[in-house]
Amino acid sequence: METIFKNKKILITAGPTREYIDPVRFISNESSGKMGYSIAETLHHLGADVILVSGPVSIKSSFPAHKIIQVLSGSQMFKACQEYFETIDGAVFCAAVADYTPKITSEIKIKKIEEETNLELIKNADIAFEFGKVKQPHQKSVGFALETNNINENAIAKLKKKNFDLIVINSPNVNEGFGYDTNKISIITKNLSFHAFELKSKKEVATDIINQLKNSFKLDEK
Ligand code: CTP
Ligand code: CA
Repeated sequence: METIFKNKKILITAGPTREYIDPVRFISNESSGKMGYSIAETLHHLGADVILVSGPVSIKSSFPAHKIIQVLSGSQMFKACQEYFETIDGAVFCAAVADYTPKITSEIKIKKIEEETNLELIKNADIAFEFGKVKQPHQKSVGFALETNNINENAIAKLKKKNFDLIVINSPNVNEGFGYDTNKISIITKNLSFHAFELKSKKEVATDIINQLKNSFKLDEK
């Protein structure tokens, strides 16, 4: 029986975020949250103390509801995560946090008065990057990258910039990634070793990712 995750405190982000323009409109994306919830369930079963910070998703999950912190916006997700930065042993950043948010959120519904309009957007906080800045050597982190071009190069740049121990490369192809129950991934580790996997169920993919994370923790024990 694997015990490495027993009592390890792991923060997981999952799902999309909603960036509100006015009370009834928002910017968001297609993330289903399935990958993050699958990793949360598996780590929970392995005895980890999992904190799941989740954007709005509709998922049937066996993960205990009282351990989920529900948020809507990227800034709410950042604030919720920040509370745990110091005390966690590891983090898995699965959420598809919106990169930009409206500079102003109107408190009332915007009327279509103008012929033309512009929406001013400002950058959201980068949760993974902020954790990467304060991360201690015993703390391990996993990031995700969905790329359409220069895939490995872009993924390695993110791995370094955000101080990840491993980065999971997701494919945007059919039956893989957003919304689907299957996923085809590859993983690049901090020491730039590359692992490619077959198309699998997200449950099996979660296990592959967790096994790599386990290796990162194990390296410290040697
Ligand atoms: N991430 C995050 N907070 C953000 C944006 C991204 O925590 N505001 C995390 C994601 O959860 C993922 C990793 O950073 O684990 C990479 O996200 P991605 O969107 O691929 O990268 P970006 O840095 O946002 O770059 P770009 O979208 O321009 O490719
Ligand atoms: Ca992004």
